Amino acid sequence: MTIGIDKIRESALLEVESAKNIKELEKIKIKYLGRKGVISEMLTGIGNLPVEERPVIGKAINIWRKQLEQTINDKLSALRHDEEKPFIDISMPVVGFQGSVHPLSKVIDEICDIFIRMGFSVIEGPEVESEKYNFTMLNIPKNHPSRDAFDTFYLDIPAPDKENNLLLRSQTSTVQGRVMEKIKPPLRVVSPGRVYRPDAVDATHSFMFHQIEGFFVDRNVRFTDLKAVIEVFLKSLFGKEVKTRFIPHYFPFTEPSAEVEMSCIFCSGKGCGVCNGSGWKEILGCGMIHQNVFQNVGYSKARFTGFAFGMGVERIAMLKYLIPDIRLFFENDIRFLRQF
Ligand code: DAH
Repeated sequence: MTIGIDKIRESALLEVESAKNIKELEKIKIKYLGRKGVISEMLTGIGNLPVEERPVIGKAINIWRKQLEQTINDKLSALRHDEEKPFIDISMPVVGFQGSVHPLSKVIDEICDIFIRMGFSVIEGPEVESEKYNFTMLNIPKNHPSRDAFDTFYLDIPAPDKENNLLLRSQTSTVQGRVMEKIKPPLRVVSPGRVYRPDAVDATHSFMFHQIEGFFVDRNVRFTDLKAVIEVFLKSLFGKEVKTRFIPHYFPFTEPSAEVEMSCIFCSGKGCGVCNGSGWKEILGCGMIHQNVFQNVGYSKARFTGFAFGMGVERIAMLKYLIPDIRLFFENDIRFLRQF
């Protein structure tokens, strides 16, 4: 008798599997599980069996019925899913498609790709930040002008910790603290993202713009490593002919600090309208990470050295594509966006 059950079971499963639509499946369900269906007939037939076989066969039939119910339900969900799916004809020609990658996204991707080739990872940080990561961790003292309410957007909601108000980050350098606090060197990270400053909007300023932060921390990292990485980066982005120079500067979170200038790509350094006749364009800030920053993130004293750099994406995109006004990036004018 159990051999007979196996046969019927196999053919039932086969029928369920090959059901092409819900209607067909309903028929199969009635055939096997209905009141006068195959299974109910089999259960009635048990009465004719020898007494000792009845419980065994009865149990086998019941197990099978449960299995069949499950299989039918699974098949039903699959068919429902198929039948509800809207029909998409992927061979239809595209009509009026106007999308393209935004020039800022393009430049961000290109810059990150260059650093990825040099072994960097991309890690993003939050735009709503705490004073701790925007300032304190980065060795920016309480009386620093950038902490002023006129220089930073503070949020009007209670911060989780009273000492550190919430704000819209004014720099992507915040990611240094966020990453270093969690991960021990060796570290090579680039971090693109939006930053906010309460600047009046004009051709070169916006209350929101993009930066890419980078940092490299290990034992024995030197200023020459920083120079090499920046040079490779600028040559990869703007061409092999590009020259760079490092001008001493001040940033609270690096010591020494420098501003990097690049020979003007439009006049090859001879002097033109784009570079105001100087032959050079300021391109990014950088330096050797201050030991106070390492101390703030909990690294042992004097164990690691490293460098950091930060650049404005709009500034680079404007230079690369000779875009005269930062507002063009944010106006969503299709005539502008279509050019990229
Ligand atoms: N965070 C700086 C800014 O917004 C840019 C910067 C300068 C980042 C020097 C750095 C750095 O990591 O070393 O102006």
